Amino acid sequence: MDNTDLNLYKNLIDEHILDFLPEVDHKSFTVYESMRYSLAAGGKRIRPILLLAACDFAGGDVKNALPYACAVEYIHTYSLIHDDLPAMDNDDLRRGIPTNHRVFGEAMAILAGDGLLTTAFEVMNKDMLLYFDDESNLKRRVKASYELAKGAGCRGMVAGQAADIEAENKQCSREMLDYIHINKTGALIVAAVRAGAHLGGADKKMLEDLTDYAEVLGLAFQIADDILDVEGTESVMGKKANVDKNKNKSTYPCCYGLEESRKRLMELTETAKEIMAPYYDEAEFFNKLAEEMAIRVK
Ligand code: IPE
Ligand code: IPE
Ligand code: MG
Ligand code: MG
Ligand code: MG
Repeated sequence: MDNTDLNLYKNLIDEHILDFLPEVDHKSFTVYESMRYSLAAGGKRIRPILLLAACDFAGGDVKNALPYACAVEYIHTYSLIHDDLPAMDNDDLRRGIPTNHRVFGEAMAILAGDGLLTTAFEVMNKDMLLYFDDESNLKRRVKASYELAKGAGCRGMVAGQAADIEAENKQCSREMLDYIHINKTGALIVAAVRAGAHLGGADKKMLEDLTDYAEVLGLAFQIADDILDVEGTESVMGKKANVDKNKNKSTYPCCYGLEESRKRLMELTETAKEIMAPYYDEAEFFNKLAEEMAIRVK
């Protein structure tokens, strides 16, 4: 695979995103439709793209990593459905269409999120069962699944989301703001990269470098999201603008101002590229991705 082309990975995800959903009884059709609704709506697919790219970079076969790539997108999509609920950010628009609860109702949206999160682990466990007698391949898969559980859970994304809610309508310290961003957004991005690296068989040094890169990228990603909330347009983002201000959220623009936030984003983008510099052209994909992300806010 030509690893300089971001779209190759994305196309693979878009093509297979529904393939790993289990068959359901027609009596469960509504929740299944609700799960599919948010998954099929699209999105940038950054997390599964990163998982596949890390696997590729480490020398693995991306096709074998597809169940894990789709699993991370299931987890991310669940987090968006729940993030949009009235009890959380109360949003109406996501991925260019009405939010899940606006179409299916709050109860079904909660269950669709639960369904997606649980399915992610069902998919990964099902894949692991295929490698039960192949110790080295099984180990890689167990490690990948563990990374995603850890990143998504109460030491990662859930912790960040909880802190984000608690920081509403409050003066939040810069340290706390970084804690929120690193966890609510960074943790799953780091987990996706590490999962891919494990699947591809990365050595210790490569795993460390990819982790450092993903940590920086994850923080930069949420800073970009915060800036876009102020400056972006609904039609490009597929979600409403100015939501953070209306909800009195603790964000980078609110704590640092727009100029300083943009500067921090550019610095982090450079840092991400420096981390991958020892890999020269081999790391072209990761450099491009960091740049593309920063360009979104220019
Ligand atoms: C939105 O994530 C939530 C954040 C963590 C900022 P994305 O910006 O990746 O959303 P999609 O998947 O492209 O819709
Ligand atoms: C959400 O952050 C992070 C998640 C874990 C979903 P935001 O609340 O800023 O994401 P958007 O702006 O609604 O996409
Ligand atoms: Mg939120
Ligand atoms: Mg939100
Ligand atoms: Mg946001």
